[in-house]
This record gives sequence, C-alpha cells and structure tokens, in this order.
Amino acid sequence: MNIMTFNTNEELNQIAAGIFASLIQTKPTAVLGLATGSTPIGIYQELIRLNEKGYVDFKDVTSYNLDEYCGLPADHPETYRSFMNVQLFNHINIDKAQTHVPNGNAADLQAESKSYDEQLAKASIDLQLLGLGHNGHIGFNEPDAELHAGTHVVNLKEETRQANARFFNSIDEVPTQAITMGVGSILKAKMVMLVVRGAEKADIVHRALTGPITTEVPASLLQTHPNVVVLLDKEAAKHFH
Ligand code: F6R
Repeated sequence: MNIMTFNTNEELNQIAAGIFASLIQTKPTAVLGLATGSTPIGIYQELIRLNEKGYVDFKDVTSYNLDEYCGLPADHPETYRSFMNVQLFNHINIDKAQTHVPNGNAADLQAESKSYDEQLAKASIDLQLLGLGHNGHIGFNEPDAELHAGTHVVNLKEETRQANARFFNSIDEVPTQAITMGVGSILKAKMVMLVVRGAEKADIVHRALTGPITTEVPASLLQTHPNVVVLLDKEAAKHFH
C-alpha cells in the first residue's frame, strides 16, 4: 500500500488528478469509479482544469458512482447524480450516457442492485476513488458484523446521517436509506485511490490501514487489495509519522 502525505490540499488534488489523467492518457476508454462528498471536490476541480487545458480527454471514459440516496426526488440538489453533474460531469467532455449512478428511486431496488452489479462486472473499474466515513465506511458500507459483497440497499447509521446533515436544511431531510456498491465490487477495481482529509479522520484512517481487518471498519478490507494508493493531508496523516 502506497501512502502519500501532502502539506497542502492543492498538492494532493494535483497528484490525485494526475493519477486519473495518466490513466486516461494511457487508456482513453478507462472505467472510473467515482465518489461524492466533500473529499473529491478539489480533485474534480483539478480534473476540470486539466480537461479545459486539453491535457485529458473524457470523450471515451465511462464512470460508475459508488452510491446514491434512496427516496430523494430526482431533481433534488443533494442526490448524488445532481452532485456529480454539478461538481464534474457538466464541466468536462464526458458522454453523460456513459456516467452511471445507482437509481435510488427505482421501483424495485433489488433489481436495480442486480443490474448495477451486472454492469460493473462487464465494465470492470480501472481506478476507484474513495473517501472515508468517520466510522470507517467506504461507499455506504457501514460498520457491521457482516458486509455485503454486491450492490445493496443499506440503512444509514445515525452518525452518517448526522455527518451528511450539513448538506440539508435539517437532519430530518437526510434520507434513511441508500443504495451502494458492496465491498466486493469495490475490491474488484484494478486500482483503488483512498483520499482522506482532516484531523477528525486521523484515528479512523490509521485504524483502517494499520489495525486488524474487520467488518466493523469496512475500509480495513482495503488492506487485502494489491493496488491501493492512499492520499492524506497532513492533518489526517498525523498518526503515520
Ligand atoms: C460518497 C461515499 C462516502 C464518502 C464518505 C466521506 O460517495 O461513498 O463513503 O466518501 O462519507 O464523505 P466526505 O468526503 O464528505 O467526508
């Protein structure tokens, strides 16, 4: 596992975006696994800049997002589809038809999960971007006695709803369920990039990467993946020195 620490968020964003850009330069049809939340925003801004400058071409790129809330109206600004359009897809030359986010409003969420897994199995993700939840979740795979391998519907933990309430008017508006890729799908990516920022995640990222592998810290399963790169800002990295 390659762990890199950065003094500034600008440097972290540039290196992370550079890894995406070099993948796409060597493989123009790359399949990207993407994430939402605060962590990737600066990386997406850097990718937009690289696309505008002509250094990276998304024309033939495909993407699959990790997760989506269940039960938010499709035009709600906090759906992960809206987030991806606003933060990235609207500003780069990707074909929107090649961007995939699970449908959290599907009438049959089991069928939606199955179909997402079938697409993922065919597409095969080259590089999966991950943020880290305060409780060690990746995607919306919450700490539990058991984890699911494939895409599934999950009841969000209270701490996750609290953490995400900052994007809504009140905690009551935060959905209680989400649909998420499973840890099995995440671990099938050829390469994984975990990005963690901020002192409040210093303990959990250290536990996830150096502690025992346990379903109670879903990110600890990344220790079993042969090709993980971890990008930390200096606050998140404080226990690694
Ligand atoms: C987002 C996702 C989540 C977030 C995590 C960290 O698609 O799957 O696992 O990566 O909750 O969120 P932020 O980056 O907002 O701290």
